[in-house]
This record gives sequence, structure tokens and C-alpha cells, in this order.
Amino acid sequence: MNTKQQWNTAVNIYNDGMGEEGDKLNNSLIHPTIKELLGDTTNKIILDSGCGSGYFSAEIAKKALSVIGTDFSDMFIALCKRKYTNISNLSFQELDVVEKMPFQNNVFDVIISKMVLQYINNISLFAQESYRVLKAKGHLIVAVDHPFNTQFYFAQKLAGSNNPKYQSLSNYFDRSAQTKLSLWEKVKLTWYPKTVGDYISAFISKGFYLDTIKEVGEEKQNTLIPRILILDFLK
Ligand SMILES: C[S@@+](CC[C@H](N)C(=O)[O-])C[C@H]1O[C@@H](n2cnc3c(N)ncnc32)[C@H](O)[C@@H]1O
Repeated sequence: MNTKQQWNTAVNIYNDGMGEEGDKLNNSLIHPTIKELLGDTTNKIILDSGCGSGYFSAEIAKKALSVIGTDFSDMFIALCKRKYTNISNLSFQELDVVEKMPFQNNVFDVIISKMVLQYINNISLFAQESYRVLKAKGHLIVAVDHPFNTQFYFAQKLAGSNNPKYQSLSNYFDRSAQTKLSLWEKVKLTWYPKTVGDYISAFISKGFYLDTIKEVGEEKQNTLIPRILILDFLK
């Protein structure tokens, strides 16, 4: 099964699991940080790249001039179009993160990429295209699973407590694809390990400045570990 087929299989599970407000991880760790970085979005034109079931695009559209949600899954996009027909400043279209974007130069104030890039092998064209379509001083906000989070699971494995999610990860610098049970352990999805440095250099090499880096922690088994990495880049 290729990655698009994997995500198409996950559409209903994802939509049910997130609902219209997001799950606990999103609500407690990801959304507050992204909203803080977004600040006042009045009059902003926003691209939500890899929008999934669209609930976050719809949420931010309430306070933005307009939002376009894109995703490579035809089934996610069909679902979003069905769910949000009546929101006039919100639209959706099919688009693969690894393709050129069908937008003019300098059109967006903000691009959001929330929990998408860990599933993309090569993020170089996305970085280049994001730079092109953002206005000067525009922001690109990237949220991903924190690469050190996977190391915690590896450490668990070393300690003899195996974790089924990251069975084959044994080296922080090993970028080979992993397929793991994801989405509340209901679907197998392929994931492409990257280091913190990989994420940062992909974007600064295309001209972005790193404005803010947030490492959001989560307590597990009495240990506070970094769970989500959020990078705010400035054009
Ligand atoms: C974990 S979900 C995140 C969805 C949404 N951003 C959110 O936070 O609810 C990952 C999303 O990335 C999308 N995706 C994965 N690979 C993609 C690609 N190559 N191009 C576009 N979207 C992709 C999936 O279809 C899925 O909707």
C-alpha cells in the first residue's frame, strides 16, 4: 500500500478521532502553541498544508480573512468539502506536499503544516515552494512529532520494555522509512525519521529565518520528554 492509500484508509478513523476540536494531544499540546505563534490572524490569508479532516482549517477560518486547506488524499478533501460547504472564506483542494504549488508568488500571510512532514520523505520542494508563495515577512509554522520522542521509545527498548510503535528504530540518525501502528494504534502509516537539524536546515537553506522554536513536553512514566517540535519560520 502506498502512503496515499494508507491515508485514504485512515480518513474515517481520523475524522472520528479528531472530531471538530482535535484529540487530547492536539488540544493540550499542539493547538495552544500554534495559536500563540499565529497571534492575530484578522485579514490574514492562510494555507493549511496537509489539512486532513479539516477541523483545524475550519477553526482558524473563524478568525482569518481566508483559509485554503490542501491534502493529497482525495478522500480527505471530499470529506472536507462535504463538511464545510457553508463557510465562505474556507476552501479545500487536492495537493501533494511533494509537488509544486498551484499558487502565485507572495500570496499567503501564513502557512501551517501541522503533523504532516514526518510523513514526507523529501521536504525540500515544500520548503522552496512555501518560500515562494509566502508574502515577505510571512510565517511558516511547522509542527511534527519531536524527533527525540522516538529516542525515548528506543531507550525504553534498550531498557527491556519494548515499544511496538518504534520497533526498528535503533539510531537517531537513521533516516530509513518506518511503518508503525499509528492513529490511536488503529492504522499502519509510513513515517520518515528526520533529526531536528534536518527540519531546520531544509527551511533555512531555502531562505527562511528560524524565528521561534518550541519543544512541547509530555509526561510519560514519570518522565517529562519532548513530544512535539514546533518551528516558526519567517520569510
Ligand atoms: C496527522 S494528519 C494531520 C492532519 C491535519 N494537519 C491535522 O493536524 O489534523 C497528516 C495529514 O498529512 C496528509 N499527508 C500525508 N502525506 C501527504 C503528502 N505527500 N501530501 C499532502 N498531504 C499529505 C495526510 O493525508 C493527513 O491528512
